[in-house]
Formats: sequence, C-alpha cells, structure tokens
Amino acid sequence: MTSSTVFPAGFLWGAATAAHQVEGNNVNSDGWLLEHLPETIFAEPSGDACDHYHRYQEDIALLAGLGLNTYRFSVEWARIEPEEGQFSLAALEHYRRVLSTCREHGLTPVVTYHHFTSPRWLLAKGGWEDEGTPDRFARYCERVTRHLGDLIGAACTLNEPNLPGLLVTLGIGGEPPERRGQVPIWAAAARALGIAPARVAPFQFTSSEQGFEVKLAAHRAAVAAIKSGPGDFPVGWTLANADIQAGPGGEERAATIRREVNERYLEVARGDDFVGIQTYGRMRYGPAGILRADEGAEQNMMGDELYPEGLEATIRQAAAVAGVPVIVTENGLATADDAQRIRYVERALRGVARCLRDGIDVRGYIYWTALDNFEWVFGYRPTFGLIAVDRATQERTVKPSARWLGEVARSNGATLE
Ligand code: BGC
Repeated sequence: MTSSTVFPAGFLWGAATAAHQVEGNNVNSDGWLLEHLPETIFAEPSGDACDHYHRYQEDIALLAGLGLNTYRFSVEWARIEPEEGQFSLAALEHYRRVLSTCREHGLTPVVTYHHFTSPRWLLAKGGWEDEGTPDRFARYCERVTRHLGDLIGAACTLNEPNLPGLLVTLGIGGEPPERRGQVPIWAAAARALGIAPARVAPFQFTSSEQGFEVKLAAHRAAVAAIKSGPGDFPVGWTLANADIQAGPGGEERAATIRREVNERYLEVARGDDFVGIQTYGRMRYGPAGILRADEGAEQNMMGDELYPEGLEATIRQAAAVAGVPVIVTENGLATADDAQRIRYVERALRGVARCLRDGIDVRGYIYWTALDNFEWVFGYRPTFGLIAVDRATQERTVKPSARWLGEVARSNGATLE
C-alpha cells in the first residue's frame, strides 16, 4: 500500500532516542557529573541506561522490522571530544557503524549533534553562557560531519534550546548568575568544576538572555560547519514547543510566553532547511501562572493532562512563523497503559493529517521514544517507549503501540483513514 493518503511519499515515520538517555555510562558528560553530586536533583543516575552503545544493532533491527523508515538519535560530544581539541576516532567510528546499520536496514538516520549533555570540560569553561562555546560547538560539528556526513539523512544542531524557558514557568531553574551559589546543586557543581557558581550553565537549565545569544550563535555556526560537508542533507534545530494557551485572564501572560519560548526561536529557523517540532501537549496560563489540568482530565503517568491536539497547533504556529518545512522530531506519551499511547498517537497524527490537508509542508513524524529510557531528573520511572527494556537483563519487549505505529508507517498513514 502506498500513498493514496494525505501523507506525501517519502514521509519520515520514525522513533527517536538521545545518547545520554539510552547509551549508558556517559561518564565524561556534564549530565553524569550532575547526577552524581550528593546535592543532585536527579531521581537516580543514568548508569548503564539501555546499553544501546553496545546493543544498537538489535535496536535498529527492531525498529526497521516494525515498518518504520527513520531513526533519530544523537551523537555524544563528550565521547567524540573527551578533552577540548582531542577527538576520538574510536567514538566517531562507533557512530559510523550506527549510521551504516541504519542504512543497511533502510532507515533514514536523523542525527542530533547535541541533545542536552555536553562534555564536562565545556561546563568548566562556562558552558552555554560562555562566548567561546559557539566556536567550540562548530569545530565539533565540522569534525563530526567530516567523518559521518556521507551517511546522514537529516541533521538537528541543538535539541530544545528553548526548554529551559518553559521549565522556568513550571518553577524549575532560571536562577540569575548571582543567585546560583544559593542553589545546592549549582554550588556543588561549581565546587566540583573549580569555577564560580555564577559560571555554571548547563544547556538544559540555562534560560538567561546570554544563554539565548550563545545558543543562537552556536546554531548558526553549526549550520555553516555542517554544510561544509560531505553530504547534502537538511539541517535545522528542534524546539520544545507546547501549545501555549490562555485560561481566564491569562491572555497577556500566555502571549508573552508564546513569544519568548516559541516564536523567537522559530524566527531563528527562518532560512533553515526545516524546523523540528517537539510537542507533548498544551500548557495553560492564568494571570498568576500555570494552571493545573481540569479535574477529571485524562492524565499521563507524570500527572499532566493528555492533549495530543497540541501538536496540530504547534505545527501550524511553526509553519506560520518560521515559514520552512516542519518535521515532528518528537511527540509521545509517558504511560504504563499502552492502549492509551495508541489513542494518543492516533489523535496526534490526525492533527498532522489536517495540517497536510491544509497544504502545510510536514515531512515526518518521529515518536519519542524508541526505548523506555532515562527521563532526566525523573530517572527511569516514566515510560515513553515503544519498546520496553528490562534493565536487569537488558531484554527488549516490543509493545503493541510499536506494532501499531509500524503498520501506520507501512501504509503511509492509510490505516488512519
Ligand atoms: C527531550 C527528551 C525527553 C522528552 C520527554 C524532550 O524534552 O528532547 O530528551 O526525554 O522530551 O520528556
């Protein structure tokens, strides 16, 4: 069956992971450092994760066997450049084997160059607020592309540079430099790195204006570096865009957040080959801040309301503001109820289909995530995966939702109609 559907031929149907969340033992990264501080805010350390570093062949074969045609994953800067200026050929060769495995299985590899974690040495230099970081990132991107570019299908420079801005509205992070010393984890990180607390700026928690400027410059420099080749594939950045809505009296606040957290990052994507949209639901604001989900609303396992229609809204916003093709680089649900996951994705995909019907250029839908994995500060409890992982044995179990999405992919969306 091919596309008698609204989904265009060549539509990317995939699943995503990120190195730190699945590979295991990313010991040279800032994430590993933060997880192991006594003052950590992480529920547990990442440890072996899903041992994807060694089991990628099995995992890629599983995804291809389901019927998907795309695998989005990230390459880990902390492995590729373990000390500043020192590149590991062994690590680059590892990712070459991962890419070749995708190609052998007919999967288009979508490669994220930076997915939240950075080398520990970068954090010691002031991380994502330091003026030297865009050049450092560009040098790394140039080196990675030189080694891997001929096999890459599409590239994401930075993953969710705007997430910290969204987290601040939930009361997480956002301390200005002069106050970081009062926050136990940043004070401890500063001691471990031998720097002033004001200089602690990890990617995931940096929401300052300086952080915005550094990430923007890093993206631009990365695009140029990646375009130097080899390879000729689309390049863009991926954004954490919730559907920002106003509750009663919250119009002004919602408009400000929409502008600060979504639109100004979408504007950066103008002129890029695509923008990656990553949406999990909606966020509603009243005059005093975020509003809780309505009583009785269906929830995910993290207590958030289920709102798959948010994806349609963020795709429409992205197309209107950025004016470039959209790839849904993440959308998914943390749930222990796999039937609920199928219902969620089905509703989200119906929204994608409505966008396509209206002539919006959407190029792919990549589910987050392939494997149940390390969900950052929440540890391993939330399960977003299409495939379950027994972390004691590393045994993989394919969930019904994975087979369902595989069938949708094989029919290029026809089974949704
Ligand atoms: C991130 C992923 C994360 C997912 C689910 C996105 O913010 O890119 O790394 O696991 O959302 O929370």
